[in-house]
Amino acid sequence: MCGIVGFTGKKNAAPFLLEGLEKLEYRGYDSAGIAVLAENGIKTKKTVERIKTLKEKTDNGAQLCGTIGIGHTRWATHGAPSEENAHPHLSPDAKFAVVHNGIIENYLELKEELAAEGVSFKSETDTEVVPCLLEKYYEGDFFEAVTKAVARLEGSYALGIICTDCPDTLIAVRKFSPLIIGVSKEANYIASDVTAIVSQTKEVIYIDDGEIAVLSPEGVSFFDKDKNPLQKQISVVNWDINAAEKGGYEHFMMKEIMEQPRSVEQTVESRIHGREIIFENLKLDEGKLRHIDKIDIVACGSAYHAGVVGKYVFEELLRIPTLVDLASEYRYRNPLANSKTLTVIISQSGETADTLAALKEAKRKGAHTLSIVNVVGSSIAKESDDVIYTWAGPEIAVATTKGYSTQVAVLYLFAIWAARILKSSDEEYIESLFDSLRELPENIQKILDNSEDIKALAEKCGDPHSLFFIGRNIDYAVSLEASLKLKEISYIHSEAYAAGELKHGTISLIEEGRTVIALACYEKLFDKLLSNIKEVKARGANIIACVTEGHSAVLSEANDVIFIPQTHPLLTASLEVIPFQLYSYYVSLFKGCDIDKPRNLAKSVTVE
Ligand code: G6P
Repeated sequence: MCGIVGFTGKKNAAPFLLEGLEKLEYRGYDSAGIAVLAENGIKTKKTVERIKTLKEKTDNGAQLCGTIGIGHTRWATHGAPSEENAHPHLSPDAKFAVVHNGIIENYLELKEELAAEGVSFKSETDTEVVPCLLEKYYEGDFFEAVTKAVARLEGSYALGIICTDCPDTLIAVRKFSPLIIGVSKEANYIASDVTAIVSQTKEVIYIDDGEIAVLSPEGVSFFDKDKNPLQKQISVVNWDINAAEKGGYEHFMMKEIMEQPRSVEQTVESRIHGREIIFENLKLDEGKLRHIDKIDIVACGSAYHAGVVGKYVFEELLRIPTLVDLASEYRYRNPLANSKTLTVIISQSGETADTLAALKEAKRKGAHTLSIVNVVGSSIAKESDDVIYTWAGPEIAVATTKGYSTQVAVLYLFAIWAARILKSSDEEYIESLFDSLRELPENIQKILDNSEDIKALAEKCGDPHSLFFIGRNIDYAVSLEASLKLKEISYIHSEAYAAGELKHGTISLIEEGRTVIALACYEKLFDKLLSNIKEVKARGANIIACVTEGHSAVLSEANDVIFIPQTHPLLTASLEVIPFQLYSYYVSLFKGCDIDKPRNLAKSVTVE
């Protein structure tokens, strides 16, 4: 999704902008551009290729001289990917340059108004109305023009703006789109997220909706929408650039897969004191928890799949009806929620537009909202009544791995915490889940240590044209994620089916040589799954089965078997996803796909 960077300092801006944009590549983009204020006006350079091209075009930024500038990676919404539509956009008099993330919903109306006043537009974007409005309202005061222009905008925006009359001043505004400010002695920065600037400074200020930041090399001032000055706190980022770089791996995805034992450990252990689970500053206390009669879990993509695991775990341990829904569906279906509802919002980025909208809808209905988020200070984290962070660190590969694993870990942790309070499940069962949860990092590591076996399996299976994942209960929940992982990075058609549904249609697609991946780790339903394996085998399927150690009955049925360490029956979800992250990675590697940046996908989907 679109990424913004901005710089005002004493050195040349362009090299910082290009480096920042490179760090934001992971968000997904189809064109990019930078604008620098040079002695004789604003100079821009754009590309519909990679940032690397922009670097080549500008001799690593050296060709654009100026100490203030803005940059952008665009993920097309209004208008195709092209240099004309790429940001930054200039006002007709070239006095202002603007980068924008979000959607200006009333742009057609504004375009009409401006066109009637004689403005002609150079792009098809919604963004271009912003520099045009700035020109319209400018009477010698940059800040004043920004406040007037912004007052006309409806929708979502994070904006970075420069003006030729104020050669040091960069103005940033935010509403429903991510934007942070980085501060240092040498320069001040804006960025869509910390990754872009963490190599320059670890001191950041989170700017809230409706606020305006005015940056110069000397400092940053903040104002609310009515121009009243604001005091903001500086936060110190607790991870460094090495955490956001590949660390010797060929791809971010593999680095992140390998980081899972550590990420899960950090997420779980930071909440455990003795045998007690403590979530800091949780407003959902015992009284409120007892009041809850329904749980809604709402998310998108893999976070939704983590939610499906959550549904099985919550219902089993808490005995509270739990619905899991896609945020894009939930937000428009007038959901049944009230003060007795706990709405659990899951999002790695904390910025997914549909998830954020669903959160607001749940709040409007009076539900208690608890978000499980990875990015500190993100919109969803800030909007929720409660937040439990997944301490996964920055996730760069578009296909999530450690993000998903830490989300599932938090769901288990939360379920144990709540089940202990509610006494809703057998004590021994809860406590053995708690013990197994603490052994999870070690068990994930055991699977990762055997990654060469999965690599060999991927090589052997080659490029199946189309395949099916089947499972029951939490095996089914994991099969959804395993299937998504494979299709998103290897472009292989794959579907996940609840194994009991096979007979209701899917089995007609099973023929000689069709690959079926059977997840059969959920102890209680192993025999049922074994029957499903036999059914597809009888029709010629090539079967890869995943089972917990000791289930050798499957050896005579499946062509290949992946064993995962034994653990608590409810916890298998956290283990059995790992081999399929690896499998997807290697299949994609052998096919030569762009693993970290799969086609058409974005890491952070900040528009609908
Ligand atoms: C995109 C990403 C997925 C992610 C989904 C939800 O589609 O590619 O990996 O699961 O967005 O993102 P979130 O940041 O809300 O977890």
